[in-house]
Amino acid sequence: MHDSQLAETEKARFAAAGQGQVFAFWNELDGAQREALLRDAAEIDLAEVQHLVDTLVKGEGEAAFSAEGLEPAPYIPHPRSGGDPAPWKEAATAGEEALRQGKVAAFTVAGGQGTRLGYEGPKGTFPVTPVRRRPLFAVFADKLLATQRRYGCRLPWFIMTSSLNHEETLAAFEEADYFGLDPEEVAFFRQGRMPAVDFEGKILLAGKDRIAMSPDGHGGSLRALVRSGAVERMRAGGIEAISYFQVDNPLVKAVDPAFIGFHLLGGSEMSSKMIPKAYPEEKVGHFCRRDGTTLVVEYSDMPKELQEERGEDGELRYLAGSIAIHVLDVPFVDRLGGKASSHRLPFHRANKKIATVDADGRPVKPEEPNGIKFEQFVFDALPQAAHPVIIETRRESEFSPVKNAAGLDSPETCRQDQLREWARWLREAGAELTVDESGLPEFNFEISPLFADSREAFVEKWASMDPPPAIAEGTVLEGSER
Ligand code: UTP
Repeated sequence: MHDSQLAETEKARFAAAGQGQVFAFWNELDGAQREALLRDAAEIDLAEVQHLVDTLVKGEGEAAFSAEGLEPAPYIPHPRSGGDPAPWKEAATAGEEALRQGKVAAFTVAGGQGTRLGYEGPKGTFPVTPVRRRPLFAVFADKLLATQRRYGCRLPWFIMTSSLNHEETLAAFEEADYFGLDPEEVAFFRQGRMPAVDFEGKILLAGKDRIAMSPDGHGGSLRALVRSGAVERMRAGGIEAISYFQVDNPLVKAVDPAFIGFHLLGGSEMSSKMIPKAYPEEKVGHFCRRDGTTLVVEYSDMPKELQEERGEDGELRYLAGSIAIHVLDVPFVDRLGGKASSHRLPFHRANKKIATVDADGRPVKPEEPNGIKFEQFVFDALPQAAHPVIIETRRESEFSPVKNAAGLDSPETCRQDQLREWARWLREAGAELTVDESGLPEFNFEISPLFADSREAFVEKWASMDPPPAIAEGTVLEGSER
């Protein structure tokens, strides 16, 4: 189609949907600006936007959450919390076998905006380790490399970016030589974007030639995996299970054989890790069940009395908190993420301050929320998954996200949590190390995942070292790095 014809068609499409304001400044734009605006416009599914406006903006909103019929979801307890070790052994063996056969891919969602951290650049490039200041991406790469070496397997890594950080993410990998990984085995794809609307449901402009668009949430990963061809590539490569984790948590076991094994042996389409909540009102989603279906209920939806309810043993009844670590079955992702899918994830609305322009095209930076963003959440896939499995993990060993610049879940708490975990490994291996009452050592040191990537691996490696190295301020226990 001729360019100007294409523009007229797009303008007509938006006008017919009552969204003609998107082209309000068309006559003032030069060729490049018009192209930019048309590119944004082409991404928008107007029927989808209309549906969201009807339901989430003008309609009743999200149906008020009802706690009726809610029960805690069952989970498999960790041996360290009294769980039976036998099934964990069996699961680890099954997961290791799947890894050896190359049936597993790692998947990191890294498309978020990281607003709370306030760091310039993709969050995956944030320096997180105590001594070498290794970025998050490097930590994950080391873990994947350690797994590849241990099982002699290939382990492709898929990374979801967004338009806001795609190029920078790629550049960071290029510059770091893919952190020692085979570039052929690392694939990047962009997640989708959704337009923001005002409280009347009108799509907002970010500038005269730009629509206010933002990433469609981590739940957008399912459709992005399909649309980008990643799922196809996985299928063709014999991948069956996707190890899903967020970009902000360096403690995560990027690929955990026992977790993968539980997922495969359970015939599960989507599996999850839980940690026991630290206190009743902790801001994590709760794993629940209703009518035989597993779901995550956000803390904001969970009635206070249920958050605080205790069983006969005095333990919180709704103990299982979600930490966004999953294993996904490839055909399941294909089913939910497909364009024609009737199983698509719901969108949630969030009122936000959205930089826009006034009627004369002058920039406006609102002080108060002036519009609505739409996002999908990955845990909304859970109710549609057959045989979901939930296993317990240890907070101190697997969960310390970098979310905020200071305070809770910050670089400082994450540094300390890494140190505490490594101090536990050392002490378990019989090394002398002074720690305070919270288990925090007195100085910074660092254990590379290529030296050891778990407590068990560390204890074994340490025992084989004669004499073991001294640990002091600034010590780095490295593996054969590359
Ligand atoms: P968060 O909920 O912490 O959001 O994302 P965020 O955007 O990173 O940070 P804030 O809220 O702006 O401070 C949890 C995980 O989901 C990914 C993030 O990259 C992170 O790994 N995510 C989030 C996406 O990949 N895409 C999104 O649209 C949102």
